[in-house]
Amino acid sequence: MVARLKPLVFLAALVPLGALVYGAFADTLGANPLDVITDETGTWTLRFLVLTLLITPLRRWTRWNWLIRYRRMLGLFAFFYGSLHFLTYIWFDQFFDVAEIVADIGRRPFITVGFAAFVLMVPLAATSTAGWIRRLGGRRWNRLHRLVYASAVLAVVHYLWLVKADTSRPVRYGVIIGILLAARVWFAYNARHAKAPHAAAAARRRLSDGVESVDAG
Ligand code: HEM
Repeated sequence: MVARLKPLVFLAALVPLGALVYGAFADTLGANPLDVITDETGTWTLRFLVLTLLITPLRRWTRWNWLIRYRRMLGLFAFFYGSLHFLTYIWFDQFFDVAEIVADIGRRPFITVGFAAFVLMVPLAATSTAGWIRRLGGRRWNRLHRLVYASAVLAVVHYLWLVKADTSRPVRYGVIIGILLAARVWFAYNARHAKAPHAAAAARRRLSDGVESVDAG
């Protein structure tokens, strides 16, 4: 059942891209298609980051362990839309003009923060395979993949910084990401204060998390 849903989730995750490609060809993206593509790819990067961060707390609260099988796919879609967002900027906005990009970063520092958020996603995408989990070991792999927290926080700062008047949308994402990160602090606190057998079980679960998310995927 869960395995059968995976291709559907994969296809659903491609719908935003399909809508943009269709809009570009059908000329329905409005007067400034470049702005629409930049904003949509940026928003979907953030949405997939939130969905990726949601998996662990949801899994703990519901005990639906199968959710872990979707984490890698959602994380890679965040990276995919982040790459499209980045590419839209350097290709269609700046035409690979390095001098212009440097000048633009000076004018709009939120771009540097977005870039940092994206760069942090690169090692995560690169080490998302079962081979890398084995090579790094579960503990080190988990530690490395905590970079996703920093990436999500920087993504919210990037969004907050770039909006001119109405900050309600970036604030909403900030609150959601704040809650998802606070849940992890809560889990870590509980694991530390749990009785020894529980702590050992929590440690085992942490180690298996990464491996399961790939091997079972
Ligand atoms: C994790 C990485 C990133 C995330 C989650 C992200 C997210 C977003 C979001 C949500 C928006 C606004 C969408 C809206 O207005 O509805 C946006 C806009 C934008 N982002 Fe990013 N971004 C990321 C990385 C980057 C990078 C690497 C660059 C460029 C090097 C960049 C450049 C821009 C630009 C130019 C805009 C449009 C600003 C405007 O409307 O004036 N972003 N991004």
